Order: sequence, then structure tokens, then C-alpha cells
Amino acid sequence: MKGRIFSGVQPTGNLHLGNYLGAIKNWADLQKDFECIYCVVDLHAVTVQRTPEELKSDTFEVVAGLIASGIDPEKSILFNQSQVTHHSELAWIFNCTAKLGWLNRMTQFKEKAGKNRENASVGLYVYPTLMAADILAYKATHVPVGEDQKQHLELTRDIALAFNSSYELDFFPLPEPQIFGSASRVMSLRNGLSKMSKSDVSEYSRINLKDTATEIGLKLKKAKSDSNPIPFSKEELKDRPEASNLIGIYAALSKKSEKEVLNEFGGKGFGVFKPALADLAVSVLEPINTELVKLLDDKSYLKMILNNGSEKAKDISSKVLSDVYKIMGFIR
Ligand code: TYM
Repeated sequence: MKGRIFSGVQPTGNLHLGNYLGAIKNWADLQKDFECIYCVVDLHAVTVQRTPEELKSDTFEVVAGLIASGIDPEKSILFNQSQVTHHSELAWIFNCTAKLGWLNRMTQFKEKAGKNRENASVGLYVYPTLMAADILAYKATHVPVGEDQKQHLELTRDIALAFNSSYELDFFPLPEPQIFGSASRVMSLRNGLSKMSKSDVSEYSRINLKDTATEIGLKLKKAKSDSNPIPFSKEELKDRPEASNLIGIYAALSKKSEKEVLNEFGGKGFGVFKPALADLAVSVLEPINTELVKLLDDKSYLKMILNNGSEKAKDISSKVLSDVYKIMGFIR
């Protein structure tokens, strides 16, 4: 094994193509070479208000989506964050390690809190210290994520370093971000300058893993593009965000490089490219959708996976937390 992976996804709404291509597809591939721990971060999801029904159904949907996308609960530890209380305990310690100035720099907080910052929850502000605790409670060495999580991972490394140097120990590893390829930042289908996200009000901005073949086809048909033909080189895509996004999606779905995709479609218009992209997207996503819907029919199976995964996770995190408390001088 090349190291220990930890990564997480929030149960807030449907998983979309950005989550799949930027993170989850890679998580599945990494299972053969790494010891993998994958977490549905339900505590992170309540930094904004959720009803109990939403939290429950989104948690089931995300677990089903992960398994349908190839996360094997026999090979990897798959669980939900709130069942392993060590995450919250270590987050408190890290709240006492991280500096206000470090958190003030986090762009995700600024984006999510928006203009009404005074009304944002304290949880949203300290979200990154809980994320650092998720990773470091397992002394994970690698963290596969989309581009948008890069800053949070830098903070995680700063927290690990600060803890190590406070106690003059080499206790926490400095986890490496793993950010892969042409789909590490999938953009909205309606606006090539904003990220594909669960919170976008327009359903046409994203493809969900729960979408049917017809919905995928329609969304890609309506996807914003431009009237120029597809170019032959990546340089010519520079000022064409929508075109660049669609080419990146095609490359990631087909496991080809962007260069290869441009060689295949260079000179053709979007009238030719979009139906080809829709066929490709359906061929990759339809089997996932079928499996996801089937799994959602058996909630007790999904619950059992989360309960078993949580027990396995605790076996690792309890040892790390016990060492942390001892290092800090707490009487145990
Ligand atoms: P979340 O739930 O927003 O997203 C889950 C994963 O999907 C990636 N992603 C994207 N990748 C490419 N293009 C997009 N448009 C796109 N949108 C989302 C994210 O980068 C992420 O990898 N804070 C994290 C969850 C988390 C976590 C952790 C991750 C909590 N603790 C510990 C890693 C390690 C988040 O909100 O992801």
C-alpha cells in the first residue's frame, strides 16, 4: 500500500458530475493502491440549516451514490462522520491550534457566508478545523479532492505542523492533496466561470448522478457553448470557458487527454460535439444511476454499511486521539 487516504463528501443535495469527476471516480480508482477511508461528512452538512428529513435522505443518497460509483465497502472504510465522535473532539483541539488569521483567509467561508456574514453560523467559520480533524484523526497521508478544497488542505498541513512543533514531535504526517486531471474543477453548464455546485438554483447548471438518460441529454443539449468551431489546440480554448469545460468533461469521462479530444473534434461545431458528449455521459452515468436507485431501496443495508464502517474507523481514530490527549498532558 502506498499510504492512507482520507476523503469526504457532504450530504447536501444530490451528488453531481463535479463531485463524480473531481473526486469520487478517483476515490474508486485509488482503492487498489491505498488504504482508503471515505466519509459522508454529515456534521459539516449542518453548518447550514437542514431539516432532519433532508439530512437523513441526503446521507442515504450519498452513500448509495458512492457505492454505485465503485467504492467497495469491503475494501475501503465507508462511514458517516457523526458516528465517530473523535472527529469533533480533535476539531476542538484544532480550534485551539489554528489562528483566527488563518481562518479569516478561507475563501470558501467568504463565498458561502456572502454579504450576510454576521448571520453565518460559527460552525461554517470553523468548518476547516473539523476538516483537518477528519483527515488527521486517521493520520492520513493523501487526500484526493477537487481543486476547490486545496486551500482547506493547506490549512490542514499548517495545523499538523503547528501541533507537531508545539510538542516538538513528528506526530501528524503532512497530508498530500491529490488533485487529478481535466475535471478537477468542473464548471456550471450555464456559466463557464462558476463552479458546478449543489447550491446553484438552476437544475440545468449541473448533471446529477440521479438524472435519467433523458435529463442528461436535455441538460447537455441546453448547455451554454459558443458559435465557434472546436479548436485544435488547448491554447485556443483559453478565452472560451464554456467550450473548455465541455471538452474537459468529455476528456475525463472518456479517460482521454484534452489533446486527444481536440484531435478528434477539432474543426467540428457543438452541434456535432454535444450529442457525442451526451452519449458518452449516458454510457458512463446510466449504470451508476441504475445501481444508485436500486441501493436506495434498501436503507437497512446502507445503514449497516455505515455502522460497520464507523466501527472500523473508530479502531484507528481512538488510538490517534488517545495519543493526542497524552501528548497534551490530559489525564487519561
Ligand atoms: P463537497 O461535498 O463540496 O464535495 C465533495 C468532493 O467533490 C469535489 N467537487 C468538485 N470537483 C470538481 N468540480 C466541481 N465542480 C466540484 N464540486 C465539488 C470537492 O472538491 C470534494 O473533493 N469540505 C469538503 C468535504 C470534506 C472533506 C474532508 C474532503 C470534509 N472533510 C476531509 C476531504 C477531506 C466538501 O465540502 O466537499
